[in-house]
Amino acid sequence: MNVLFEKIDRTVIAKLNRPKHLNALNSDIMHELISGLQEYDKQPSVGCFIITGNEKAFCAGADIKEMIQKDFSEMFHEDYFSYWEIFSRIKTPIIAAVNGYAFGGGCELAMLCDIIYASENAVFGQPEIKLGVIPGIGGTQRLTKLVGKSKAMEIILTGRNVPALEAEKIGLVSKVLTGPNFMDQVLEKAQLLTTYSKTALKATKETINQALESSLKDGIVFERKVFHSLFHTENQVEGMSAFLEKRIPKFN
Ligand code: CAA
Repeated sequence: MNVLFEKIDRTVIAKLNRPKHLNALNSDIMHELISGLQEYDKQPSVGCFIITGNEKAFCAGADIKEMIQKDFSEMFHEDYFSYWEIFSRIKTPIIAAVNGYAFGGGCELAMLCDIIYASENAVFGQPEIKLGVIPGIGGTQRLTKLVGKSKAMEIILTGRNVPALEAEKIGLVSKVLTGPNFMDQVLEKAQLLTTYSKTALKATKETINQALESSLKDGIVFERKVFHSLFHTENQVEGMSAFLEKRIPKFN
């Protein structure tokens, strides 16, 4: 199996499992990851995903050995990498837990997630320029939105490594988690999310992502409509009642 799924309470951990290839993304691992996430996304008992790799590599990018066998015609007709669009339709929040290398498609996979936690030894980068190509799973677009044009240009045109602390400083990484037991720390954060209303979590994800797609004016209207719609949910009544009754809410 190229991806190991483990459910701990309401969190599902997807561990990339091609360690000999530094978790390089070939078609098999991509399909296993995305179809697994899709299945769990439908389950009411799942409140958060964590995607991770191992201590050496979160993921060293798209599989160069697979790609070198393809010509333009195959790339074009297969619409290579278009399957990743399904990933961006997953509704449940996804945390990337990045240890070691997150290069090329690995960095892009992290950016497809909603929160990126990195260990101090994580290293990011988009080295495709060194292979005679450009990022192909959204790197030019998502990195630019995260860190701005100037930084994205410099990182992608040079193909240089971006250490975890710099990645945090420029806004690529949500937070660097220092200290021992990195995965325990990430799991704790995921489990906090799973205590909240699942509908509110999914609505938050959808609404923040909308900010990347629309004007401020349209985004504000979208946000307000989603906000109003949450007044149809039991969890809104529960959350507000619990506050007023000075007790911890019990969301379903
Ligand atoms: N694809 C296929 N195989 C890869 C790979 C990749 N992206 N990255 C590493 N591997 C393989 C190596 O070929 C090697 O396999 P063999 O033992 O069979 O030779 C094995 O993983 C271990 O790798 P290294 O021996 O190179 O390990 P290292 O510790 O010396 O170096 C590294 C680690 C710096 C990450 C180096 O492996 C590296 O630079 N990898 C390629 C990174 C890269 O260019 N990624 C971008 C890919 S293109 C892409 O992702 C396009 C896109 O936008 C989607």
